[in-house]
Amino acid sequence: MGKIAIRIDGRRVQTDEGNTVAAALINEGVWGFRRSPQGESRGPLCAMGICFECRVTIDGEAHRRACMEICRAEMEVATDG
Ligand code: FES
Repeated sequence: MGKIAIRIDGRRVQTDEGNTVAAALINEGVWGFRRSPQGESRGPLCAMGICFECRVTIDGEAHRRACMEICRAEMEVATDG
């Protein structure tokens, strides 16, 4: 399996083809994906699309579930966790 490049909060990183966005973030040490309304850092909980705790912005589109998105080359991922 090959590597592709994505950007995480503007930082260019390499990840394995086929990785979910959540896996790519965690592999880079990013655990805070978003903030709760109370300002708490949030990250993946269920990893199967149910809890919505893993929402990030992907290519400018907010509230995408990182555990359900497969990385594409040059994808831009923004967190606020
Ligand atoms: S971790 Fe629960 S929806 Fe993504």
